[in-house]
Amino acid sequence: IPEKQIAGKLLAHYDRHARTLPWRAPPGANATDPYRVWLSEIMLQQTTVAAVIPYFQKFTTRWPDVSALAAADEAELMAAWAGLGYYARARNLIACARAVVRDHDGAFPPDADTLRSLPGVGAYTSAAISAIAFGRRAVAVDANVERVVARLFAIDTPLPGGRREIDAAADGITPDARAGDFTQAMMDLGATICTSRKPACGICPLREDCAAFRTADPAAFPVKAAK
Ligand code: ADE
Repeated sequence: IPEKQIAGKLLAHYDRHARTLPWRAPPGANATDPYRVWLSEIMLQQTTVAAVIPYFQKFTTRWPDVSALAAADEAELMAAWAGLGYYARARNLIACARAVVRDHDGAFPPDADTLRSLPGVGAYTSAAISAIAFGRRAVAVDANVERVVARLFAIDTPLPGGRREIDAAADGITPDARAGDFTQAMMDLGATICTSRKPACGICPLREDCAAFRTADPAAFPVKAAK
């Protein structure tokens, strides 16, 4: 099925071009530390990879695991977060670490629905942790992935309504194996090639599969509802 070939092509590209990021396991490794995955995904909400890297290094040095973070001094943690913005994330960070220690014996649960019950962990973050840290088949659709999928299938139902179709299409191309690499490969594609304004279709590994590439204006997807 062509749907499954998309994952194969994207993963082959990822094996050669994945960005080296401090929270990532090398491509093909089937799991990485759930604490580091969780921390990075919270930091990466509304924040660029370049801005997050020094904060991620600082936090993992100061608080190397979830028990250490659960025991953190709140004022010290808020001071360490200063500059990253969206401070509700930092307050949820402590609350979540404490919930993991108190309710889950200090280990992040692998299941997306259980993860979702933790403070600050929504649909996107629970899917990302489940896939990246535990290799579970889950679809983490952030704005980058949303754009990639809308273009691949030329989904023109305006957002936010079109989101249901995009989620279903994303699910349809998610492989059973290497779900964590797949979701990060989609994020990388959206961040570096399938960019919002000037997509680099000439170097895209999915060009031949992309319905938007066959239109006059691939960047017209996703369509947003008129304001
Ligand atoms: N943006 C959000 N999560 C990410 C990840 N794991 N890798 C790269 N970019 C991301």
